[in-house]
Amino acid sequence: MKKSRTSLVALLAVLVVAALAIGSRLMVWSGSDHAASAAIGGPFTLVDGDGRTVTDKDFRGKWMLIYFGYTFCPDVCPTSLSVVAGAMDKLAPAELDKLVPVFISVDPARDTPAVMKDYAAAFHPRMVGLTGSEEQVAAVSKAYKVYAARAKGADDSSYTVDHSSILYLVGPDGRFVSHFPHGTTADDLAAALKKTLK
Ligand code: NI
Repeated sequence: MKKSRTSLVALLAVLVVAALAIGSRLMVWSGSDHAASAAIGGPFTLVDGDGRTVTDKDFRGKWMLIYFGYTFCPDVCPTSLSVVAGAMDKLAPAELDKLVPVFISVDPARDTPAVMKDYAAAFHPRMVGLTGSEEQVAAVSKAYKVYAARAKGADDSSYTVDHSSILYLVGPDGRFVSHFPHGTTADDLAAALKKTLK
């Protein structure tokens, strides 16, 4: 009895240390760790809502708040983009001028430039919808370590796409700065953006 209690205490100690280790890594991750920064983001070439080729360089001088998803998404994307739009509505005009919210499709087969343009604008007039060729979308998804995979079982046009749901903040120099996890509220996002954009 006593021995098992001792080993239980030892096990708990190990678990606490493990939790602290994981916690500190997560803190580093959500701060702007330079190692993480170096590994995420980078150059991209995509197509805007008017069918024009755009690259990351076209956004230099502005902060970008990037979200990856697709317009047929039943739930996660609309929720996340509503959070972005809600946060935008809480920013002052001078703050808004420094920021471009960008929605990048992970489903270019259905998300044509025109579809992306209308969809992004429906959430916020300043939101930019980008898509591209399969190769262009795959490249930017890889750069940002986005997970996206067409759900199995539907080979008609009504398929869904499983995808990660993260907001990426990219600085005026084009470098990844930090991210906001799924579930961030519009209030929290606006507060963080205000600190960044002041
Ligand atoms: Ni989605």
